[in-house]
Amino acid sequence: MLTDVSHRTVATIATVAVLTVALAATVRAADNATGNPLQAQIDHGKSTYAEKCSHCHGPNLMNSGTITPDLRVIPDDKTRFVTTVKNGKNNKMPPWGDILSDDEIGNLWAFVSSRRKP
Ligand code: HEC
Repeated sequence: MLTDVSHRTVATIATVAVLTVALAATVRAADNATGNPLQAQIDHGKSTYAEKCSHCHGPNLMNSGTITPDLRVIPDDKTRFVTTVKNGKNNKMPPWGDILSDDEIGNLWAFVSSRRKP
């Protein structure tokens, strides 16, 4: 009788432990999805920017004396950013929809947002 109860207790503790680990993993995954830009995304966006964007927009998001806008002060609007990057703008900003994945563009946004001027 007594052993029976303690077996159940052990089983309960084990179940709680497993659920706790699962819950922690879920919280971490949610953090990824809800757009607290993680450092990894920023770093990835930074290297994509250096490769694809910096020759027009400048290494530090602005290129004075040119027509490219200062990306540190564009509207804080992810949808607008993603749309512009995918489709281009006014035949001056080239479209990237066929070249960059949604994830890569999301990481670019994480990088650009992290450099926003206050
Ligand atoms: C060939 C030069 C060139 C390249 C390469 C380029 N851009 Fe642009 N971009 C421009 C120009 C020019 C404009 C301004 C277009 C206009 O407003 O007429 C612009 C505009 C933008 C805007 C619009 C800002 C706003 O008003 O909302 C964003 C965002 C942007 N670029 C991001 C990027 C990103 C990210 C990359 C790299 C994937 C990139 N650009 C690569 C030339 C470039």
